Amino acid sequence: MSTDDRIVIKNLVKGFHTRHGFTTVIDGMDLTIADGEFVALVGPSGCGKSTVLNMLSGLDTDFTGTAEIRSRAPGVHFSYVFQEPRLLPWKTVRQNVEFALKATGVDRSQWADRVLPVLRRVGLAGFENHYPHQISGGMQQRTALARAFVLDAPVMLMDEPFSGLDEFTARSLRQLLLELRSQEESKAFVFVTHNVFEAAVLSDRVVLMSNRPSTIRRVVEVEVPLPRSYDDPRLFDVSRELTHEIISSMVSTDDGGLVVGEEHARLAGPQAAR
Ligand SMILES: Nc1ncnc2c1ncn2[C@@H]1O[C@H](COP(=O)(O)OP(=O)(O)O)[C@@H](O)[C@H]1O
Ligand SMILES: [Mg+2]
Repeated sequence: MSTDDRIVIKNLVKGFHTRHGFTTVIDGMDLTIADGEFVALVGPSGCGKSTVLNMLSGLDTDFTGTAEIRSRAPGVHFSYVFQEPRLLPWKTVRQNVEFALKATGVDRSQWADRVLPVLRRVGLAGFENHYPHQISGGMQQRTALARAFVLDAPVMLMDEPFSGLDEFTARSLRQLLLELRSQEESKAFVFVTHNVFEAAVLSDRVVLMSNRPSTIRRVVEVEVPLPRSYDDPRLFDVSRELTHEIISSMVSTDDGGLVVGEEHARLAGPQAAR
């Protein structure tokens, strides 16, 4: 750990109390992320990726160990992008982005100077006065990106932001995120995904989490400089390496399939008899 670390996760253990008792979700995690770094968290469904973001953001404080975003200046420490754009349907694109400034106490006199450039950066110039239902899902997610980037926070937390989009739209948004990122050299990104190629394309480092109770299974550096081309064979190599690692953690089923541990437990349980 160094003083340059923006995000510090140390000896992190997290579980939930459920009807069946206490279930450990994260069983010891250590990770530090510096300013300017883009890190993807990849892992099977239910391994605790969203929970890690919730703990970093302070939404969830019930854990042992450290999960923190370090602040060095007053103001907003992070912004969040989710799988669903979560726009206010009665507000226009512009008003949705302004709302983030309003909610964080930015004076109204600054709104136009901050909102209009960010809408241009995400490719929404000309759509400022459209309502969410008048634009496509991809454009709604561009609005969500604008709302997150307008805050100028040192950290961006992204929870599967492109998983709900068709592949072509997702691809154009990944390209956009690479561009936005290259314009913000000091921002740290934590990007949750289960898409290994997406993780390879976007990240400096890919952190592969194991099944629940999860730990970090592997960290892969993506040594491909920006700007990146989708067709760069080195990205395919990283993606293949990640896929092999994930497949080696899977188990075979009687019918010749492959499943991750948790699903296997479910298949082998009482449900399987039905
Ligand atoms: N509020 C909660 N109460 C009980 N269990 C929870 C709660 N939130 C999440 N979990 C459990 O914790 C595990 C991790 O959830 P989550 O972080 O959403 O996984 P991921 O984002 O990797 O798919 C899941 O098995 C989920 O069922
Ligand atoms: Mg999740």
